[in-house]
Amino acid sequence: MADVEFCNVTKTYAGDVVALRSLDLHVADGEFVVLVGPSGCGKTTALRILAGLAKPTSGEVRIGGEVVNSQGPGERDIAMVFQNYALYPHMSVYKNLAYGLRQRKTPKSEIKRRVAEMSDTLGIGHLLGRRPAQLSGGERQRVAMGRALVREPRVFLLDEPLSNLDAKLRGQVRAELKRLHQRLGVTSIYVTHDQVEAMTLGDRICVMNGGELQQEGTPQEVYDAPVNLFVAGFLGSPAMNLLPAAVVDGYAVLGGHRVAAVPGGRGEVIVGIRPEALRARGAQAHGIRVQVEFHEPLGSHVLIHALVDDVDNAAGASRPAAAASLPAASLPAVSLPAVSLPAAEASRAGAEASLPATDHERRIVLQAPPGLHPEVGERLTLTPAGERVFLFDAATNAAIGWATEETAAR
Ligand SMILES: Nc1ncnc2c1ncn2[C@@H]1O[C@H](COP(=O)(O)OP(=O)(O)O)[C@@H](O)[C@H]1O
Ligand SMILES: [Mg+2]
Repeated sequence: MADVEFCNVTKTYAGDVVALRSLDLHVADGEFVVLVGPSGCGKTTALRILAGLAKPTSGEVRIGGEVVNSQGPGERDIAMVFQNYALYPHMSVYKNLAYGLRQRKTPKSEIKRRVAEMSDTLGIGHLLGRRPAQLSGGERQRVAMGRALVREPRVFLLDEPLSNLDAKLRGQVRAELKRLHQRLGVTSIYVTHDQVEAMTLGDRICVMNGGELQQEGTPQEVYDAPVNLFVAGFLGSPAMNLLPAAVVDGYAVLGGHRVAAVPGGRGEVIVGIRPEALRARGAQAHGIRVQVEFHEPLGSHVLIHALVDDVDNAAGASRPAAAASLPAASLPAVSLPAVSLPAAEASRAGAEASLPATDHERRIVLQAPPGLHPEVGERLTLTPAGERVFLFDAATNAAIGWATEETAAR
């Protein structure tokens, strides 16, 4: 096995398509790293460059410390599994598994031993005599993984290997992949657009967008401290609520409620609150005032969809902010008490509104325990409890800090 390194790797296709921009990434020996991002963000390009199937326009690729730019795919000792796993249809499962080893002139007894071991590991020992057409999707996927792993590659690449499976099977094979990696410990890079797969599988995840690495870290690190709006909105299901908020007297105000102190004299910010971080209370309580649109019962919990009251635009958003003088300047972690504005104050000065909120920008989702099913049109207040309120710069989309539990506690 070996570690893998992308050093400032850029790939430009004809027509000036920058598929990958200055990728720097080190994958340690035995690590399982997931590249995750929307379609077209450069994931497959990165894998193909590593496998030697495409050449980088600039930059270096190292495997086991050695620069491999000039090596062909065969010399790199890498195995790759794709979405369409392309088994040889006319060969039995056994022959599919043995194929790569036979190509390498491995002795027959050794082939037999390795195929038996691998098919045992993957639970496909009873399928060795069948042809691919006689297998289910999940079984075929396991055979494809076995075929790649049986030759004990230094690096294992997987490009959206579960996308052809139905949801339940995807969950099963995902768990199997995790077991397999724990058992074999092969350095693995896994590519997916699915943030759940990324979170559950990766020792480390790399969130990509538009050919650029946005953020890397353990799934929890990235979930807990997204560096920008893209990462914040991409990880998590249901997605983080991201709402434009006016800054009034140094506080971001949503639905008449001061949700967080804002540093640096900004006039508006994007507030991010995860659905599971919100608690619902009665209409009279202090909190973000909302009106219920509908709810979705999901058994273990219920998702309540609501519209934030559009009172904040009227709260003097474009007044010169006094934020600079507030202790809020000490973000990222601030702990100022949250204070709800009286409705009268909140509805002042409508003419100065700088944030014309569309319905889309006022939508908020709350994940609540089962049993809570408010009426359509019912008024509630929401308070961010226990977890963070994130703040993003409305112009650059970069994270500018977050409020702590105390801020959200009232
Ligand atoms: N052979 C190619 N020629 C031109 N453009 C390509 C080629 N392969 C990929 N691209 C472009 O490069 C970008 C990244 O593609 P890809 O790495 O396949 O993304 P992903 O796997 O994340 O969906 C896309 O904009 C895609 O259209
Ligand atoms: Mg792809």
